Amino acid sequence: MQTKIAQLRQQVEAEIGSVTTEDQLEAFRIKFLARKGLVASLFDDLKNVPAPEKPMAGKYLNELRQRTQMLFDEKAASLKSTPHVSAQLDPTLPGRRKFLGTKHPLMQTLDEIKSIFVGMGFGIADGPEIEDDWHNFSALNFPPDHPARDMQDTFFVDRNILLRTHTSPVQIRVMENNTPPIRTIMPGRVYRNEAVSARSLCNFYQVEGLAVDVGITFSELKGTLLSFARRFYGKDIKYRFRPSFFPFTEPSAEMDITCFICRGKGCRMCKQSGWLEILGCGMVDPNVFTSVGYDPEKYTGYAFGMGIERTAALLYGVDDIRLFYENDVRFLRQF
Ligand code: DAH
Repeated sequence: MQTKIAQLRQQVEAEIGSVTTEDQLEAFRIKFLARKGLVASLFDDLKNVPAPEKPMAGKYLNELRQRTQMLFDEKAASLKSTPHVSAQLDPTLPGRRKFLGTKHPLMQTLDEIKSIFVGMGFGIADGPEIEDDWHNFSALNFPPDHPARDMQDTFFVDRNILLRTHTSPVQIRVMENNTPPIRTIMPGRVYRNEAVSARSLCNFYQVEGLAVDVGITFSELKGTLLSFARRFYGKDIKYRFRPSFFPFTEPSAEMDITCFICRGKGCRMCKQSGWLEILGCGMVDPNVFTSVGYDPEKYTGYAFGMGIERTAALLYGVDDIRLFYENDVRFLRQF
């Protein structure tokens, strides 16, 4: 009898382990615990056990019944609390990868620009986004009431205080606080009171550059910007400098490179011209040196500025710069 009890116990323990559904649990109950189940039928056999062994056998059988009931109850509780797992679950299937996120394309672009200029010996400086008229305009040779001020629609905080319209005021701050030689870039956010469209935003990023020393020439400006453009846009690009106007540089220029999408043949990105404008630049105007107390007879220098959204849009072939600010993950995942 004891052997039979032990065998049934083993069977109970083994079978409860493979129960994963309510139906299997019910089958288990009918097989072992029901009135005509295997446990009950052993109780029926008890009458055939010789009298001296009966008490022991009875004790073991009771233990078996309790144990079986407990296993059943535990399993019933765990089936209720765990969400139903399909019997067809295949744990060998590969997991689903979570998207970890990446650096924003504008910051990738900015990092690349920074690392190229740092590699050429430039430092990095920054300045406040809330500026005064002096740093944003006057010291940069924007005369009062001169139409040049209209080039940039300004958000004013107060009569003399404004959200900087470009990163050029950081040039003034760097020169006010340092003596030449200066070679530094100045990345940062700028603000303009402009209607938002596919090509313009009211808040965007620029990188400014400034080099001041004795004997700096326009050819150094060209050489530096060409090295930058070759590293950033590709070594086969062709380029040109077009005369332009900025109040703080004289002469001023804009740098174009051959459109790397159509290779100069003309496409939507370059508006059929074959050329893409990538930055503004020029030789620092002597009046700017005077504003910061530098002797314009002693020092010369060059400056340049470019918009990051525009640069990133050119680089990645994005035709609407608003996309950079919508933060749609389907867009961001492509970078
Ligand atoms: N500040 C100019 C702008 O916002 C960009 C620029 C052009 C900066 C020429 C410069 C420069 O330093 O030399 O449009």
